[in-house]
Amino acid sequence: MSAAQAITIPDDLVDCLRSARHVAVLTGAGISAESGVPTFRDALSGLWAKYRPEVLATPEAFVRNPGLVWEWYTWRRELVRTVQPNEGHRALARLADRFETFTLITQNVDGLHQRAGSREVIELHGNLARVKCFEQGHIIADWQEDGTVPPRCPRCQGRLRPDVVWFGEALPEAGLAAAFAAASDCDVFFAIGTSGLVHPAADLPLAALRAGRPVVELNPEPTPLSRRCTYQLRGNSGAILPVLVAALG
Ligand code: OAD
Repeated sequence: MSAAQAITIPDDLVDCLRSARHVAVLTGAGISAESGVPTFRDALSGLWAKYRPEVLATPEAFVRNPGLVWEWYTWRRELVRTVQPNEGHRALARLADRFETFTLITQNVDGLHQRAGSREVIELHGNLARVKCFEQGHIIADWQEDGTVPPRCPRCQGRLRPDVVWFGEALPEAGLAAAFAAASDCDVFFAIGTSGLVHPAADLPLAALRAGRPVVELNPEPTPLSRRCTYQLRGNSGAILPVLVAALG
């Protein structure tokens, strides 16, 4: 028996999805793990092993050592360019077509959902592919790599930084509001590949539970959400999501 055949999706979850009008999905770094993008709480290997992401992903870290922070994001941007969306990303892009409303919310900054064909992704933590001016905040589409690290803003000569949300910074207001509205409006909420440790994203499944919506956790490991969620699907998203889509017929 292959690993895929061993995966079973509970019948009542399949029934619930078949009659669902609105499905909302929150993804985290785990969905991109099978593409080769390390998760945040994985032990990193190589050059960056000694840096904790929480220590680099702050405005204070950028002020202290802008070159180090810029280089770390350059490393991640280059890594993401070389990888491909996996079966989990692709299954979610297919799943969207089955429901009247499908809200895909991600904490990831890698753009892999869009590359797999998902449209209208709510990116709560920004996107690695964009940069903005640290001083004035405007988004910069083109900049010169003249050896200055970080490169300078072509408009005001300020320092450039990635357009991602760092610890201590506010999430995009409209995206966050849409995500919370979806959590309480949906018929089923999925939390996929997230450790549930970073707020406010981690509050979304709890908001869905408070609104009486079934919450499905998909993760190979238990998380703080596990004991509260309605269904637990234990395993890798790249293996489970295609089986779930197939189960819907
Ligand atoms: P984490 O690295 O905290 O958690 C990744 C989760 O994915 C863990 O619970 C793993 O068990 C699970 N996982 C690993 N492989 C998987 C697979 N193949 N399929 C499904 N799940 C798998 O990542 P996030 O929860 O996304 O924020 O982290 C949240 C935020 O913390 C990030 O967006 C980032 C980070 O610091 C900022 O940078 C602001």
